[in-house]
Amino acid sequence: MALIAPFLLLYSILFKNSNLSPKVRDLQLLSKLSTHTLSTLPPSDIYPPPNHWIYESEEIRALWEYHLKHGKQPDARLKRHPLRLLNESKLKLDIAGDESAIIQDQATGEIVAMVYRNFMPGQYHSILEWINATILTEEQQEIGYLESSIFALFWNMARKLIHGDISKDIEEFLETGIARMDNKGKQKANNTYTIQHEQEIYEFNQGELAPPVGFFASNYSRAIHKETAPHKYSLFWTTERSLEANQGGNFFISDYGIRIRGAENTLVAWQTRMFHGTSLARLDSIESYTGKGQVGLSIVSPNRLPKIWEQYMNEGIDEEELKRELEEGEEEWE
Ligand SMILES: *[C@@H]1O[C@H](CO)[C@@H](O)[C@H](O)[C@H]1NC(C)=O
Ligand SMILES: *[C@@H]1O[C@H](CO)[C@@H](O)[C@H](O)[C@H]1NC(C)=O
Ligand SMILES: *[C@@H]1O[C@H](CO)[C@@H](O)[C@H](O)[C@H]1NC(C)=O
Ligand SMILES: *[C@@H]1O[C@H](CO)[C@@H](O)[C@H](O)[C@H]1NC(C)=O
Repeated sequence: MALIAPFLLLYSILFKNSNLSPKVRDLQLLSKLSTHTLSTLPPSDIYPPPNHWIYESEEIRALWEYHLKHGKQPDARLKRHPLRLLNESKLKLDIAGDESAIIQDQATGEIVAMVYRNFMPGQYHSILEWINATILTEEQQEIGYLESSIFALFWNMARKLIHGDISKDIEEFLETGIARMDNKGKQKANNTYTIQHEQEIYEFNQGELAPPVGFFASNYSRAIHKETAPHKYSLFWTTERSLEANQGGNFFISDYGIRIRGAENTLVAWQTRMFHGTSLARLDSIESYTGKGQVGLSIVSPNRLPKIWEQYMNEGIDEEELKRELEEGEEEWE
């Protein structure tokens, strides 16, 4: 009993909505969120403007400008983007750091985005620390068992919490039969993944493995851009944020002029095909491995994934080629 009890407790709290019907879940969820209804902006008014780096103070501009204009780029094929100071009065909606919200399109009622604060329940803060430490100490590009487990935890917590329209979208993509994230194919037999809470290891054989592709990020910023993807909504989870409120690192959805303030332990679901991006952050230095910052993970599938997967199944392209294919094809909208 002693061993089983904390496990069951952990399970029932993290995956607490598992037995509810989607309708009941959505009603419960909506009662916890503020609702905003917005109209999509005409192309000339999309704000912040596409293909710009956004900064929110002169200090942040000074930190990044030289690097973004002249520094080495991670991928030399990409265009450089100009910097732009955010003009707050041009925003249509500003979601505060402690506000959980759902944003719907005025004309269609469709969900534009969903923001859920305190995603990991407070008593399990140590799991957040464990994820944060794993992301920060990670050196490899490969998805190992630990990394795949973290994504499985994220997906299992998220899929029962996010609005049914969002989970349905991603689940329909998974129903095409595409492989799940799985360390060397060993996890799928029993949907096995492992999480750490206060030095204890908990192995789960419940729920599902994660969608096939995800990203870990530390101090991530990206100019305003959009992507095409094989499912409409993507998810991110900020697991740690030590930046002050005025130190940038906020998320924007430009099609509607929305700023979602960055905060620790926040889940965001949004439509990847809309213009979006993250403002530059006030780090100690642009290469600092200490100081204040932001850490998290995302579930975003490259648009080419289904096609590459089909090739992989039919023609047996090898793993190296698969990886190369996945890395290409970003920024295809430019
Ligand atoms: C900010 O936007 C408002 C509203 O569009 C405009 O009136 C104002 O001039 C802008 N401020 C700057 C500094 O561009
Ligand atoms: C995140 O992980 C780093 C590295 O292990 C650690 O220094 C930092 O204190 C952690 N922060 C939180 C909130 O867990
Ligand atoms: C899956 O679970 C069954 C039953 O507990 C066990 O016999 C089997 O070895 C497990 N498979 C893997 C790959 O862990
Ligand atoms: C990002 O910020 C965090 C502080 O949260 C810091 O510990 C980490 O080393 C930084 N990462 C990089 C790659 O600079």
